[in-house]
Amino acid sequence: MDRIRIVGGNPLNGVIPISGAKNAALPLMIASLLTDDTLTLENLPHLADVEQLQRILGNHGVDIAVVGRRERQDGAYARTVHFTARTIVDTTAPYELVSKMRASFWVIGPLLARMGEARVSLPGGCAIGTRPVDLFIDGLRHLGAEIDIDNGYVDARAPKGLIGGRYVFPKVSVGATHVMLMAATLARGQTVIENAAREPEVVDLANCLIAMGAKISGAGTSIITIDGVAALSGARHRVLPDRIETGTYAMAVAMTGGDVLLQNTSEKLLENALLALRRSGTEITAEAGGIRVRRNGGDILPVDVTTDPFPGFPTDLQAQFMALMSRANGISHITETIFENRFMHVQELARLGAQVSLSGQTATVTGVPVLRGAPVMATDLRASVSLVIAGLAAEGETVVNRVYHLDRGFERLEEKLTNCGAVVERISG
Ligand code: EPZ
Repeated sequence: MDRIRIVGGNPLNGVIPISGAKNAALPLMIASLLTDDTLTLENLPHLADVEQLQRILGNHGVDIAVVGRRERQDGAYARTVHFTARTIVDTTAPYELVSKMRASFWVIGPLLARMGEARVSLPGGCAIGTRPVDLFIDGLRHLGAEIDIDNGYVDARAPKGLIGGRYVFPKVSVGATHVMLMAATLARGQTVIENAAREPEVVDLANCLIAMGAKISGAGTSIITIDGVAALSGARHRVLPDRIETGTYAMAVAMTGGDVLLQNTSEKLLENALLALRRSGTEITAEAGGIRVRRNGGDILPVDVTTDPFPGFPTDLQAQFMALMSRANGISHITETIFENRFMHVQELARLGAQVSLSGQTATVTGVPVLRGAPVMATDLRASVSLVIAGLAAEGETVVNRVYHLDRGFERLEEKLTNCGAVVERISG
């Protein structure tokens, strides 16, 4: 199993191109199931999760053609990929595939809308919490679907097609908003989704669906209205920049010091997280085509954050921010409100010398003047990358095990960091 070896202590200086967002790419790829025409996605990141979803879509009959493999555009590797679901050959998403990646459960929306049936394995629990699917089931029932759970599968049927309806989410869910949005595009009549997720990835999906002929208004607000159409066509769409990758590298620079231009990204995607970074003493300026992040000397100041749905502080940056706060000059509090078990990085950061105590959903971080390298490992993607950025700022050598987590969501991580002066290498085997 691959590992990443880091020798910490160097500031980061240079340019980091930001890739297309994993969490936009996945629902956009799934949207290709809604039409028999070709959906072309530009700026698709080359990630293990994207490849896994390609396998899942292939199982349903989607033809996938990669154009201009890994060509350079604006200094970044971007891929353009055609997805064509001419014929859906299978409406079942089996356990063996769904259990590997939770987002693959989302195929339930387009399959049900286009084919009138879907049988999708329950995704099961995962490292960051129980993550049930009750909101998906409840929401789709409000569109007229008949749904049973049988032998670990969600069996959904709408033989005469879905019918528009009103659904008020009792809790904000990104994935269930994606699914309701996709399903409602082909339902008869109007659907109104209230308390919808407002994440930029939801807006990106809605924009792509609109380009495919869907009638959607209000994406990016908590009320989305969809007027169903009889069929959708193909489209060409560019995946939006990855705000979590952007925030992660910004936190890395805040931690190590230096001056880095994060290219092909935008401040608007993560205002709250950048606000927290500015409060910590990091200089952040918007520039044409990107964001410049600087910290040259000066203490890291302690800042309290609480994760919340967008536009709040993202749960997907909580672990990275904790790494930063572990070196702050003072005490900070980090509260996680989205997932009940998203503090697995705490004990690993402690191996580097971080001082964090947990009480319920709040971590109290007492900053220390130095972290020291150590072997570490983590059980999810964002926790793993928090250990990488802590390692960059630590004295000596850090080895991060279980690198496959990082490959799920960070494109060319070692290369991007090495280009800015970090000492990072992958050790195979
Ligand atoms: C998306 O997951 C992201 N994944 C997650 O990123 C991200 O952490 C999360 O949104 C929150 O921002 C992708 O986009 C692929 P939710 P999702 O449904 O959609 C509860 C990463 O590292 N809930 O918004 O699965 C759920 O348990 C990943 O890239 C129900 O109770 O998250 C959680 O507590 C990790 N019932 C809360 O809602 C349901 O039916 C929010 O989850 C659905 C969700």
